[in-house]
Amino acid sequence: MSESITIGVKPDVKAVTLCTDEQYQEMYAASVADPDTFWGEQAQRLDWIKPFTKVKNTDFGGDVSIKWFEDGTLNVCANCVDRHLPERANDVALIWEGDEPDQSQKVTYGELYEKVCKFSNVLKGMGVKKGDRVTIYMPMILEAVYAMLSCARTGAIHSVVFGGFSPDALAGRIEDCDSRFVITADEGLRGSKKVPLKKNVDEAISISGIVEKTLVIKHTGGDIDWAADRDIWYHEAVEDVSADCPPEEMNAEDPLFILYTSGSTGSPKGVLHTTGGYLVWTSMTHQYVFDYKPGEVFWCTADVGWVTGHSYVVYGPLANGATSLVFEGVPTYPDASRFWQVCEKHKVNIFYTAPTALRALMREGDSYVKAADLSSVRLLGSVGEPINPEAWLWYYNVVGQERCPIVDTWWQTETGGVMIAPLPGATPLKPGSATRPFFGVQLALFDNEGKKLEGAASGNLAVTDSWPGQMRTVYGDHARFQQTYFSTYKNTYFTGDGCRRDEDGYYWITGRVDDVINVSGHRMGTAEIESALVAHEAVSEAAVVGYPHDVKGQGIYAYVTPPVGVEPSEELRKELVQWVRHEIGPIATPDLIHFTPGLPKTRSGKIMRRILRKIAENEFSNLGDTSTLADPSIVDSLIEKRLNR
Ligand code: WTA
Repeated sequence: MSESITIGVKPDVKAVTLCTDEQYQEMYAASVADPDTFWGEQAQRLDWIKPFTKVKNTDFGGDVSIKWFEDGTLNVCANCVDRHLPERANDVALIWEGDEPDQSQKVTYGELYEKVCKFSNVLKGMGVKKGDRVTIYMPMILEAVYAMLSCARTGAIHSVVFGGFSPDALAGRIEDCDSRFVITADEGLRGSKKVPLKKNVDEAISISGIVEKTLVIKHTGGDIDWAADRDIWYHEAVEDVSADCPPEEMNAEDPLFILYTSGSTGSPKGVLHTTGGYLVWTSMTHQYVFDYKPGEVFWCTADVGWVTGHSYVVYGPLANGATSLVFEGVPTYPDASRFWQVCEKHKVNIFYTAPTALRALMREGDSYVKAADLSSVRLLGSVGEPINPEAWLWYYNVVGQERCPIVDTWWQTETGGVMIAPLPGATPLKPGSATRPFFGVQLALFDNEGKKLEGAASGNLAVTDSWPGQMRTVYGDHARFQQTYFSTYKNTYFTGDGCRRDEDGYYWITGRVDDVINVSGHRMGTAEIESALVAHEAVSEAAVVGYPHDVKGQGIYAYVTPPVGVEPSEELRKELVQWVRHEIGPIATPDLIHFTPGLPKTRSGKIMRRILRKIAENEFSNLGDTSTLADPSIVDSLIEKRLNR
């Protein structure tokens, strides 16, 4: 597939928001020439309690300080719910589709208002106050959305932890932000398998010990342990609360949420997003990038445990008064037609998913797609990793029936919302390219020596000025924020991604250039997996790298050195796999474990990851310079015993 093929948008695919390339160019130019005027106007899309008088006050130098709309006040929940009541009380806000195909539910904005007010009063009854951190560890059920919105309503800061993380990982996240409250469910369901959420929370609490109250949603009705002084059933607590709960007045720069994400070093970072800028960004990108029109059904398949779920299941769509679909299940249960059946059943107009899901479904053949009536679908989106041209074309031809534009959206937990994407109707598409920057996003490419590259070039992707949706700090560690993102290039935010810019100014993301890998669209720090491995007594050293995987995008390849006297075996391999699943969670399951008596190291003892990566990629013909290795013979034995062939 040649990258130069351009797919024009068909004339019957009209965008209301923007129609032409010229309009994009004009607006983009205005957004970077005078951000104060541009964002001052765009922020009027929200309801402010006290209007702001200052727009942008940001500095990427020194300690790094990022403030937007800093003297304005508003409430995110009121913007996502209350303000829609006069016009949309009877419109559907949320559609829930359960794990089993016969389970679904619709909630109007009027009902959502009542649910969220009551939920907020339950939180207050538990002692939750403005500024408190509340951990949410939930399945994809409507109460997860109510919980997030209720935190926003009461001024509490939520920290959603994906339900696939282990008790250990959960405990670490609870402790890092000193969270005394946890909201969970008895069990979750994914593809008919039960996830023991409450049990995991109990274990996490026994590790971290600081949790005072746990609010538990009854979902499956499964058996759970109960601590009477700590645990509260939601369905009991909600019986005697009022349905009236005025939203808290929040400053634009008050924290909205913390979301933990992996980096190349250390433990996961608590990415902090604030109130005003984040909501302006998510609501605006949701409207423009997805060309959202009132009354349409928007389905983002991400879990609310990830940033995509925060921004495009909850905040962006609800700020715009959209109908957002919340899906509890998996794409392949009961069979590979599930996504398409759900699109048909709920007449989905805009569908947003990850390449890994597309690749898995593509393998099952076209018949599952063709059996469903997808005539309601008019726009497709992709996020989380580079989409390979094969998957792009299958998405376009088979799912979109050659009539739906695909928006390939590049962004990160740190960026709050979409940063690079086509605007449907305005941008000609190239399969595999996220195309061009959104308004206000000023991109730059640098080479490894720190030189800024102009024109068509490949390099490391950076952003040279602030945008409203940007993270403000690493929770509790501002120095780490500065160090991680602003120390590589001066006065510039470094993304950690490699990228190519073509002669049309289109951006092609090539993947991470740091020690972060992307497994099924989930970000994993190789260092985290390594430290889980070396915590096992049968591992004295470990090095983890990614390798190309047909479905997952990248698989996890672990080189493991047992201590002297421990013999590698199939049992040990299985035990280590279970160990990592237990330490971090199933998403970190190593695909390949390569036992080796030693790792390639420089004479100063540094592991040569470049070599390990090449061997894992099965591309060892050109290993580059190995002369600095302490023991070059190790490389030959690694190649000989390599596991990815
Ligand atoms: C990768 C997910 C190519 C990238 C929203 C980024 C992508 C990381 C794309 C962030 C895309 C995300 N094309 N790569 N359209 N979208 N990525 O924080 O490497 O979970 O740095 O945010 O995913 O992952 P995160």
